[in-house]
Amino acid sequence: MTASRFVSACRKLATAALGATAGGCSGVQSAFNPGGPQAGLIARESGWLLGMGAVVFAVTLSALVYAVLHRRRPADAQSANPGIVRWVSAALAVAIVVLLTNVVVDMRTGRALADLPERARAGALTVAVTGHQWWWEIEYEHADPRRRLTTANELHIPVGRPVKIELRSADVIHSFWVPGLHGKRDLIPGRSRALWIQADRAGVFRGQCAEFCGDQHANMALLVIATAPEDFARWYAAELLPARAPAGAAARAGQRVFLANACVLCHTIRGTPAGGRVAPDLTHLASRRSLAAGTLPNTPPHRRAWVLDPQGIKPGVRMPALALPARDAAALFAYLDGLQ
Ligand code: CUA
Repeated sequence: MTASRFVSACRKLATAALGATAGGCSGVQSAFNPGGPQAGLIARESGWLLGMGAVVFAVTLSALVYAVLHRRRPADAQSANPGIVRWVSAALAVAIVVLLTNVVVDMRTGRALADLPERARAGALTVAVTGHQWWWEIEYEHADPRRRLTTANELHIPVGRPVKIELRSADVIHSFWVPGLHGKRDLIPGRSRALWIQADRAGVFRGQCAEFCGDQHANMALLVIATAPEDFARWYAAELLPARAPAGAAARAGQRVFLANACVLCHTIRGTPAGGRVAPDLTHLASRRSLAAGTLPNTPPHRRAWVLDPQGIKPGVRMPALALPARDAAALFAYLDGLQ
């Protein structure tokens, strides 16, 4: 069996074994379902390590079973076992070879991962991702400042194009982890670190903060949405537009409620005076798939629930509940629903 067939067989075995225990490895957040070259290299190494681990486990258990079945009577135990030194030495030698092989495999993966960006530098898309307690700020860089774009919790990328992600933190240490596209990388306050990803197929890749960062660490998810280049270009052009003018009397009243309340201190809605930068940009809020960094699906009833009781849904979140009169709240929701 060649090395690559061994790795492939091990991966299938590991996927089947983990699938039985962990609910499947083919989902939107799985390192065993790689969507690009970086994740592919990591999945290959994972397959190798799991295969080696399985072989070592099977051999060790077999030796244990053999020892139990062939154990000697207590009277014989005092006499020396002449073969024991040879067996222990052989096992030690095998263990050292296995460990060294794993080190070499790991170094080769690391080298291959480092080499990918070198080849990808031309034509790459650059995106700054900033971790906040507990959401992701996403800023697309562009040489033309008018084509720079800020959004939140949803990273759209074109299929087949390398993406350089500059990771930063606004507060504490977070960790960017989208298992279908790459391994983990910490976001450290005061530092900027680069991570390269690429999606080779269209799809949604779920990511999750992987470093404990406070009460709502578990509710700090993001979606990476990979689409065909022309779909990405369409999405980008639509996102660059300022917010739609409110349609109808209720939405217009809702915009006035938004601008007259504390919302503007934290949120930006491009095309209005609201320019806060400490919370997610809401310019195209209603077009996103989730609310509060993957905490809720982004539907009108969930938006209402979230705005009326953010502390009940995500305790400790920086967003306060606004005690709005019912009429103002209804108008506000009409406005927010229109932010497509
Ligand atoms: Cu951010 Cu955990």
